[in-house]
Amino acid sequence: MKILVIGKQGMLAQDLYGCFRTAGFDVVCKGRPEIDLCKPDTIREVLLHDQPSVIINAAGYTAVDHAESDPEQAFATNRDGVQCLGENAHRLGISFIHLSTDFVFDGKSPRPYREDDRALPLGVYGQSKWEGEEVIRQCHPQHVILRTAWLYSLYGRNFLRTILTKAKETQALRIVNDQWGCPTWAKDVASALVVIVQKIRDDKEIPWGTYHFCGAGETTWYGFAQAIIKETQDISAFRVEGVVPIRTDDYPTLAKRPAYSVLDCSKIQQSFGLQPPQWQDSMQQCLKELLACPDLLHTPS
Ligand SMILES: NC(=O)c1ccc[n+]([C@@H]2O[C@H](COP(=O)([O-])OP(=O)(O)OC[C@H]3O[C@@H](n4cnc5c(N)ncnc54)[C@H](OP(=O)(O)O)[C@@H]3O)[C@@H](O)[C@H]2O)c1
Repeated sequence: MKILVIGKQGMLAQDLYGCFRTAGFDVVCKGRPEIDLCKPDTIREVLLHDQPSVIINAAGYTAVDHAESDPEQAFATNRDGVQCLGENAHRLGISFIHLSTDFVFDGKSPRPYREDDRALPLGVYGQSKWEGEEVIRQCHPQHVILRTAWLYSLYGRNFLRTILTKAKETQALRIVNDQWGCPTWAKDVASALVVIVQKIRDDKEIPWGTYHFCGAGETTWYGFAQAIIKETQDISAFRVEGVVPIRTDDYPTLAKRPAYSVLDCSKIQQSFGLQPPQWQDSMQQCLKELLACPDLLHTPS
């Protein structure tokens, strides 16, 4: 079974490629310019050329703040491009896995969000991702939409790598302590998708639909930063002496973020037997892999 991962240079796509290869799948990973979600011809050409059985779309317009002043591009990528991909995949009989986000919610829920809770995005990025989900539901019945959150990885720009970089430069880190969520190792998402694709390969009855998957437990960005610093306190190159909690209002951003975007992952557990690891355990494992590979630590985050 051939898997096509889209978003080659992206953070999650790199973990997807590694995990699917390790699991023995025939996997190809493609990105711009070869396949551009805003250029329908490139989508058709790649699908016809590669003829995958499953597409995993890890590409998207992910610049949350920039999207506020660039809505055309955000919607062209996250909604219209996804629709083109979904329609072509459906026509060619290719199953479709798509990544989405906790930012489809407004963060006002008193409990972890379930898949069928009402989406009320606070900004352009969240709205474009929500509309991207909706077009898939309309155009391609054989889909899995996986919402995840607060991703970090050995690769790319992400919070964990930014904290490690800042720890070398600054004595006190000021980090927001009133946004709650679930830090999630991209490699755990990739491993979960391997299990889902194995089911698509082996079973006739696939519970297609929308699922949540993120690290178990919950914390704030401050709590996450503190845990990273505590875990790496013996590294002599780090100047950081402490993490200072601040409020969202003290760190204004162009896009509003949900104050609480914890995702309830019980549906994916019931349907696919997938239990997300505790976020602290995954963070420790990721740090172990990162620190064992100094080249990765020193590439820009
Ligand atoms: N990061 C998070 O915390 C987070 C949380 C929840 C959900 N997600 C979702 O998870 C998925 C992967 O996120 P990520 O953090 O791995 O993203 P990322 O590192 O920003 O990578 C996104 C990739 O999409 C590509 N891309 C952008 N516009 C494109 C277009 N028009 N055509 C083709 N490719 C295009 C980019 O290509 P270039 O390299 O050419 O720019 C980039 O490689 C996204 O759907 C995102 O919404 C992420």
